[in-house]
Amino acid sequence: MHFFDYRGNKLYAEGVSIEKIIKEVGTPCYIYSHKTLVRHYHAFDDAFSSVPHLICYSVKANSNIAVLNTFIKEGSGVDIVSGGELFRALKAGANPKKIVYSGVGKREDEIEYALKTGILMFNVESPEELRAINKIAGRLKKKANFAIRVNPDVDPKTHPYISTGLKKNKFGIETKEALKEYVYAKNNLKNVVPIGVDCHIGSQITQLSPFVDAIKKTKNLIAMLRKQGIDIKYLDMGGGLGITYDKEAPPHPSRYGKVVCDETKGLGLTLIFEPGRAMVGNAGILAAKVLYTKQGTKKNFIIVDAGMNDLARPSLYGSYHAIKPVVKNNSRGEIIADVVGPICESGDFFAKDRELPAFKSGDLMAIMSAGAYGFSMSSNYNSRPRACEVMVNGNIFSVIRERETYKDLVKGERVIKAKELRSFCFYS
Ligand code: LLP
Repeated sequence: MHFFDYRGNKLYAEGVSIEKIIKEVGTPCYIYSHKTLVRHYHAFDDAFSSVPHLICYSVKANSNIAVLNTFIKEGSGVDIVSGGELFRALKAGANPKKIVYSGVGKREDEIEYALKTGILMFNVESPEELRAINKIAGRLKKKANFAIRVNPDVDPKTHPYISTGLKKNKFGIETKEALKEYVYAKNNLKNVVPIGVDCHIGSQITQLSPFVDAIKKTKNLIAMLRKQGIDIKYLDMGGGLGITYDKEAPPHPSRYGKVVCDETKGLGLTLIFEPGRAMVGNAGILAAKVLYTKQGTKKNFIIVDAGMNDLARPSLYGSYHAIKPVVKNNSRGEIIADVVGPICESGDFFAKDRELPAFKSGDLMAIMSAGAYGFSMSSNYNSRPRACEVMVNGNIFSVIRERETYKDLVKGERVIKAKELRSFCFYS
């Protein structure tokens, strides 16, 4: 459920017309609805109101500090995967005691930053990482709380690039090995404290059964840990709940909540969740302008001023995003066309062979459900300044990230001076 709807023939975000926003800030432009973000946070949070729990919004889905701050103000913690995300989270006002740190490749400086910040726990993905954390914590005279991310070998039935809980994936530690690691840590690693078990099996999951299978496997591990005298307080179920892009019918968070609560009943644990997409996916759109239309011999093309550098999902995963006119014009009729960007790659598309209103040059379009993994995965490819981001709240809107400039594109770059080049040639 979101707040992007037509009033008459014009598309609105809450109480503001998209056309009006674009007149002021231009295209391409990401537009988020504050009310939708808040609603999604509470839909998730309420689903677990009967049990101790903590929602740690997954920063990678949309890391704009205004978005983070919106969730944080509602009580959310955060799930981070880098020093950069930690920096953003703190800038947005996150409580360190509500930060979990996931990811297979944490660097030494990042671990140190997180330890100094005093985060809730590290979700550890390999034995070597656990030893590294133990060493760095010892050097800093700190204790590091950790959970091991178990790889339960469960098929989340989603796109292979976003499946993470299968044996062949790089993520987590197999359950048996994880048990050994907890015991090893208890006996040998004095600067790390086991407080949780973590499991994230993938993203855009539209069925409940993979989550249930994963819980069953982690429950076995928790029982075995308790037998060994290792008392776990947290079960982190990761993120992964899917959203509707097209015709998918993912379970509502309340159904997900019921199943998870039933499955974890009596464990005496605080549940942690790391939802990303379910929070922001349908709370954002990418607005673009039609530059040209052309009829090829085989296809119609609608060429817009946003590209795969702005929204990479269709190119990367072939994912579907609904496309709507910002202003409906019923006299236009429909065509079947590809919506493509200006980038010099055939993979630069937003829709293929899609039945669409017959857009014309100058028309505005909204690429829907672009709030998650949209701007956060954008790049400067083809030296395109990244889009601006706008947040609508009721009848007002604010720019929450300015459009990049050409100057931003070369920030930190420099031309090597002739003198430097000469000395380089001399020594090589
Ligand atoms: N926790 C961990 C450890 C994760 O790796 C992820 C996502 C999440 C939580 C949040 O998952 P979500 O609730 O959003 O499904 N770029 C892809 C999605 C990649 C997901 C990466 N990990 C896409 O655009 O579909």
